Amino acid sequence: MQVLYTASATATGRRQVRSPDGVPNLPPALTKELGGMGAAVAGPEQLFAAGYAACFENALLRVAREHEASIRESSVAAHDGIGRGEDGCFRLTVAPEVSVPERDGAGIEEVAGIAREEIRPYCRATHDNIGVEVRVVRPGGHRRSTRRPLLLPSRAIPTRREAAMDSIRIRRVATALALTFPLALAPAAAFARDAATVAEQTIEVMQKLFGRHTGMRVNHAKGVVVEGSFIPAEAGARLSRTSLFRSGTVPVIGRFSDATGIPDIADGSPQARPNGLAVRFQLPNGEQMDMVLNTLPFFPVATGEEFLELLRAAAASGPGVPKPTPLERFGETHPAAPRAAASLATPASFARTAYNGINAFVFVDAAGKRRPFRARVVPVEGVQTLGAEEASRRPPNFLMDDMVARLGQGQPVRYHLMAQLARPGDQTRDATQPWPEDRELVELGTIAFDRVPPEADRIARENVFMPNNLPDGIEVSDDPLIDARVQAYAVSFGLRSP
Ligand code: HEM
Repeated sequence: MQVLYTASATATGRRQVRSPDGVPNLPPALTKELGGMGAAVAGPEQLFAAGYAACFENALLRVAREHEASIRESSVAAHDGIGRGEDGCFRLTVAPEVSVPERDGAGIEEVAGIAREEIRPYCRATHDNIGVEVRVVRPGGHRRSTRRPLLLPSRAIPTRREAAMDSIRIRRVATALALTFPLALAPAAAFARDAATVAEQTIEVMQKLFGRHTGMRVNHAKGVVVEGSFIPAEAGARLSRTSLFRSGTVPVIGRFSDATGIPDIADGSPQARPNGLAVRFQLPNGEQMDMVLNTLPFFPVATGEEFLELLRAAAASGPGVPKPTPLERFGETHPAAPRAAASLATPASFARTAYNGINAFVFVDAAGKRRPFRARVVPVEGVQTLGAEEASRRPPNFLMDDMVARLGQGQPVRYHLMAQLARPGDQTRDATQPWPEDRELVELGTIAFDRVPPEADRIARENVFMPNNLPDGIEVSDDPLIDARVQAYAVSFGLRSP
């Protein structure tokens, strides 16, 4: 068929879907229904390409996982074409272009072949109704320009026999594939265990620790949603090209929270530390920026895998467990963990505590210059904490009630949004290692929360704040914890959504 128009989008690391002209530019988990991208305008073909790319990448990872072939980094660029078929009717074609750098293409054709037939919604909905031509891109190999119109061979709707042959072929390929990946010979039990991602296992242990609570966040379950505005200061515009620092006052949504997945935890309980603050900045051009912060000065561990280990150690260290408990032993080999725990105190109010971004992110300016930074949200009223004794005597909802009361009385709660700038050579990969306090601190603007919206509970339920939901001009760093968080938040959101 002759293709008249080609739309392209690339899904990378299950994180972001992006087309060459920047639209759509959204985390795949964040469609409007999932709490993101309210005002984005994108052509239907681009959105289809985005959906297909995200779906195909998930299918690819799932097939790989099911055959015990771990893939750390993958990307799928879907190019969908629309044009008239031989019968004169408009038809779609799609060419997923698969790249798995670490495997140099080995075995990936087979994985991609199975993924093509997978049961994911886009792949399944379009199974054999449109031409699909899978290509595997080898590192350093030629990558087809995403802007060039593609002329794809049309694949007619198959007969029943062809479909049956396809399914036999798939089973054969699956068997062949099982033999090409060495781990495939591991026992079935190991397979079942490894089939869950680190994020899925993390969520499972959190549920063991905190219980299962339908419709609630698996961590930071108890919280209060607020609204207000962000007024940018001048300094931000020199560091980043984001329109956030050039748009004047922009609306923000915030959510203050207690730690753990226990929805009725007492605000004064030591387990409720660290407290959290998530802020979504809503830019006039439809972009968003989420900042998801907590009251720790640094994180107890550097990776998602270590965090899972920490949670497992905590789950195995209940009352009556002989000393040293697994948690104490974990602390011996991960000294940042006990230090992080020791740094926490109960705030006198959500308005009197500072929140830290902990992970490094990167400003990109108009010339493309990159500057890593860590965000801080510092209370205008100053920091005030409570002793353990006093915290235990406070009413169970004192932090939530205090915030609602302040805003109800017309007293906005204000914070300075600060960025701690890295010096050249400062590491950005390890959230257990804060940068020295002498690093430059720049004020990016003021956040002022002034109301609890009438639909606060619905907003909390329907939204997920994602550390990688960022506008052009602000990017994630190489800190592996960011992706670990994104994966875990997506699993939690999936579980709590009807
Ligand atoms: C691997 C490390 C981490 C894991 C596995 C993890 C896990 C989670 C999960 C499962 C949720 C619930 C998400 C939802 O359903 O919306 C959550 C929420 C949250 N996390 Fe994390 N987290 C991690 C690290 C961090 C760090 C480093 C920070 C702060 C810098 C942080 C701050 C928060 C906050 C503030 C929330 C509540 C967001 C809201 O109000 O919707 N987390 N976390």
